[in-house]
Amino acid sequence: MDPVRLELRGPVAVLTLDRPKALNALNRETLEGLIARCDEVARTADVRALVLTGEGRAFAAGADIAEMRGHSPAESFAFSELGHRAGAAIEALSVPTIAAVGGYALGGGCEMALACDWIYASTRARFGQPEVNLGLIPGFGGTSRLVRRVGVAWAKEISLVGEPIDAETAYRIGLVNRVFEPDALLDEAVKTGETIAAKGPVALAHAKRVIQEGQDADVRVAHALERAAFAVVSASEDSNEGMDAFLEKRDPVFKGR
Ligand code: CAA
Repeated sequence: MDPVRLELRGPVAVLTLDRPKALNALNRETLEGLIARCDEVARTADVRALVLTGEGRAFAAGADIAEMRGHSPAESFAFSELGHRAGAAIEALSVPTIAAVGGYALGGGCEMALACDWIYASTRARFGQPEVNLGLIPGFGGTSRLVRRVGVAWAKEISLVGEPIDAETAYRIGLVNRVFEPDALLDEAVKTGETIAAKGPVALAHAKRVIQEGQDADVRVAHALERAAFAVVSASEDSNEGMDAFLEKRDPVFKGR
């Protein structure tokens, strides 16, 4: 069975990590599946947003420990690189991406959630980088993405103490944007995707890219990126349509051009 399911809910692609017996642990096959499904989403013209979630009681409980045990340094490097490619495949999507975390998001699981633009959680979610309990460190981008999301002190506490934090704490420190009841989580994430789907796709893609690239750039470079993107977006059919619709007091019809 495919360890990553892709389902289209109207304009929203829902990717589900689907190895519930192993709490969706990320083995090579699952990471390759994630990359392949992201490629598929990127090639599907009508997708306007993506939700990444997990089947069962976990989002993903980390990299697959059984598969990692016994890796040589070269194999560990290749495995880490594959995890990085999966995170990069999520991050490179031009549409907004939301992680819907309904249970454990540990180690590599937390790292895949962090590769999404933001995270929604259920009250049952648990986040952590427990690699130190195994004598390991995060290997799928966690050291760099977590610090950017929650700041250096929380990133260190989470990664060096190795104990999970609950949804409320994750919300308080800015790891999670919103917390929902377990039954409502996926529908709420999809509903946000539907709201996004009504906006201009050209603007969304540029806003996402400029925020993404700007956060690691000098602020003057970030401002320059914004000015250039603003000019490009302003020349799109979508922005003419959006402003015309406002002036004519009607809803815009965006075509992604
Ligand atoms: N890898 C492989 N299998 C895993 C797994 C993982 N990361 N996490 C859970 N599983 C498997 C268990 O082995 C178990 O399988 P069996 O039924 O065949 O024994 C099944 O999933 C259910 O797990 P538990 O019985 O342990 O469930 P629990 O409710 O008692 O505990 C848990 C849940 C606290 C999440 C516990 O499973 C756990 O601690 N998992 C490991 C978490 C972890 O250390 N993650 C980091 C991995 S390293 C990493 O991710 C490195 C990196 O950045 C690249």
